[in-house]
Amino acid sequence: MFLSLDPTDTNPWLLINRDEERKALVGRILHHFVTGDGRRGLTWSVVGDKGVGKSIFTQAVLRDVRSAANLETAIIQVDCRGKGSWRAVLAEVADQCVVEIDALSGIPGNVVPKGLLATARVGAAFARFDGLELRDAHERLLQFKGALELGGNRSLLSFLSSGFQVGVQREKSHTQAIEGRIVLDASRLGRAIAALLRDMRTSGLRVIVLLDNVDELDHRYRTEGEREHVRQEVEGLLGLREAPVVLLVNVRTYFNGVLTRAMMDRTLLRPLRPSDLQTLLQRRMEFEDATVQAAFRDPTMLAAAQALAARVGNPLAWLYWVKFLVERDLLSESRFEEGCHRFLDTYFTQVNADDVSRVVRVFTHPEGDISREDLLAACGNTYVMSQMEDHQVVEPRDFWNPVRYQLDPLFHVLHPRAGHST
Ligand SMILES: Nc1ncnc2c1ncn2[C@@H]1O[C@H](COP(=O)(O)OP(=O)(O)O)[C@@H](O)[C@H]1O
Ligand SMILES: [Mg+2]
Repeated sequence: MFLSLDPTDTNPWLLINRDEERKALVGRILHHFVTGDGRRGLTWSVVGDKGVGKSIFTQAVLRDVRSAANLETAIIQVDCRGKGSWRAVLAEVADQCVVEIDALSGIPGNVVPKGLLATARVGAAFARFDGLELRDAHERLLQFKGALELGGNRSLLSFLSSGFQVGVQREKSHTQAIEGRIVLDASRLGRAIAALLRDMRTSGLRVIVLLDNVDELDHRYRTEGEREHVRQEVEGLLGLREAPVVLLVNVRTYFNGVLTRAMMDRTLLRPLRPSDLQTLLQRRMEFEDATVQAAFRDPTMLAAAQALAARVGNPLAWLYWVKFLVERDLLSESRFEEGCHRFLDTYFTQVNADDVSRVVRVFTHPEGDISREDLLAACGNTYVMSQMEDHQVVEPRDFWNPVRYQLDPLFHVLHPRAGHST
């Protein structure tokens, strides 16, 4: 029925009601670009629950910055979801540096030093290997030799040549004599990429790196060992803040314990009100055909939508639910129960609907939390418990210390007290 309603669409044009936070962050970034000394960076995190609007918010911020900050802004965006490792994110940062520098070099009036693109290509090439023959590394540098001699940006190249005795100054004949293996582990690669970003900055570019979904780099939290692994990966990744760039980090509230004292600059996105959820949907109506628009002017439908908005309380969950119910003609108070069952049957085929509703009901409030023991008791056994965790019906309140659990926002609506304040 809907033509284009996509619950995961983060087109900034759709953003409503975050003006204050947005102006503040855009202002902060532009101020940094204008007054920053070029040696230090600005790190800013955007924190909030799943689906509250972190991604769409940062997209709007980036769009504003791009339009206010002239041509020479390089914007690097990496979605950490499922990347699994810090290395993989760095490799994508490097690739995107190449793309951005290439694009910016092509814009008339932009003065991007010729050697910068070659430098970025070296960074991207190195990022692809975790151990490589020194000779290969050297040959790789030689391939770029011509362009690198155009000079200007030395930070990455001096890092590579001091760390690994590879460099453009050696002649090809010498490569034959070089033996051994260099290991560019994640931490060295992190420093190499930071050096590349520094080269971009000293070349006069303004650089923003957005790391989205940092909490989903690897979301295994069940054992202490898994959490420790995730912590090391994320902390390593956040080492990028050593680079003189604007580093924006989107992270879910339950994960924000990983942000250190050194990363206190943040925007906390609070839930939207039910009336905002209605506005957000209205904005999307502009892309729908006349039939859908007319359906949403119908008073009965509007009343049902209003009741649903009050129960849901989260933008992402709201869009999923409203789309699902409307498309099956189930958006009405009288058909709500049926709608809930159909929703679970459709999206959560692996879990038993009765288990879900039992679990939902042990929470005294949709947004409340309970102990792991109480949750396990409600599940009945560890199998059901791990199903609830795997399918993200529940999640820990604090990723780093999973002793209390909360319902995922998608399931708040199923709670008997949903829509009743506290
Ligand atoms: N303030 C808002 N205005 C309009 N749409 C929003 C807003 N906040 C969230 N949304 C919508 O809700 C969905 C989830 O938002 P998203 O930015 O992906 O959340 P997060 O990144 O926090 O998980 C997206 O489709 C987005 O368009
Ligand atoms: Mg997101």
